Amino acid sequence: MSKITAAITAVGGYVPDFVLSNKVLESMVDTNDEWITTRTGIKERRILKDEGKGTSYLAIKAAENLINRSGVDPKEIDLVVVATATPDLLVASTAVYVASQIGATNAFAYDLQAACSSFLYAMSTASAYIESGRYKKVLIIGADKMSSIIDYTDRATCIIFGDGAGAALFEPNEEGYGLQDEYLRSDGAGREFLKIEAGGSLLPPSEDTVKNKQHFVHQDGRTVFKFAVSNMADVAEKIMMRNNLTHDDVSWLIPHQANLRIIDATAGRMNLEDSKVLKNIQRYGNTTSATLPLLLSDFESKFKKGDKLIFAAFGGGFTWGSTYLTWAYNS
Ligand code: COA
Repeated sequence: MSKITAAITAVGGYVPDFVLSNKVLESMVDTNDEWITTRTGIKERRILKDEGKGTSYLAIKAAENLINRSGVDPKEIDLVVVATATPDLLVASTAVYVASQIGATNAFAYDLQAACSSFLYAMSTASAYIESGRYKKVLIIGADKMSSIIDYTDRATCIIFGDGAGAALFEPNEEGYGLQDEYLRSDGAGREFLKIEAGGSLLPPSEDTVKNKQHFVHQDGRTVFKFAVSNMADVAEKIMMRNNLTHDDVSWLIPHQANLRIIDATAGRMNLEDSKVLKNIQRYGNTTSATLPLLLSDFESKFKKGDKLIFAAFGGGFTWGSTYLTWAYNS
């Protein structure tokens, strides 16, 4: 019997309508379009403005888009994982609500949090369940309402992040397509450099934590940048070497969209031409858990059966990694 591999069989995505441009940010903080564009590559990002809507709204929209595009019956889904750093609630998993809302009534569901690497780790989870034969349809959704944890008076963070969601369905494949290899890493020394200080068990919310803006994301951008550049490039290069892939073999790089310079450095180390490097950072900014599946959703029509995709991500924690996957269908 041939080994079962775990392949992506459908994708979906969603971004909210409201566009926050660099021009508008110029009127909010001391920054300018030229600085943001040259330092990050970002031109605009999408923001979920509607009150009373959280990350689940984005996740449900992305999952519904996947269901409409593929025709999959939600009742057949075994597991729903929502990868997110911005759950609706701290207790009561966002994924459970999402699963119910999309009609995945026979599934179990939970959230997974590894900052900007969440979707990469969720791909690992989905694949392990499928390869073991335990489950047949695993829906993973990367979704983040970053605007809910951003201080729009802090120019070091508010220019970077945006809201969005993307989804991918994993199923067994007997032709050998799907996830081939992964190289996932983490290092707790990184938590000093990118974090939300308060609201968790270490520093519960109080009047002081609100006053001191400790419920917002804070980062030491320069340090994060340094680690991101070297680690993302390292793992992408390692996974190519381990699988005897040259730059000619690789069809597409699917890189986390944090900063155009980090993406270019990773592609450079892989010796990959720019036409194979997928980007939508200019339109969405960094949507954290959603960057990778939004690329899959936006560029699905370019992928052909057998294409070799290299994913690479880096995020808070620190967490990072690279995954090698072959595409299983022509859309
Ligand atoms: N507009 C204008 N100037 C700004 C600015 C902004 N939005 N933000 C910072 N600056 C200024 C700084 O104050 C600094 O001024 P100084 O030299 O007078 O002190 C100067 O620009 C350079 O700042 P620096 O932080 O060194 O810039 P940078 O080239 O490192 O770019 C980031 C800043 C945040 C874009 C970059 O560090 C980055 O992308 N880091 C990774 C962040 C990330 O991706 N986080 C998510 C995890 S994946």
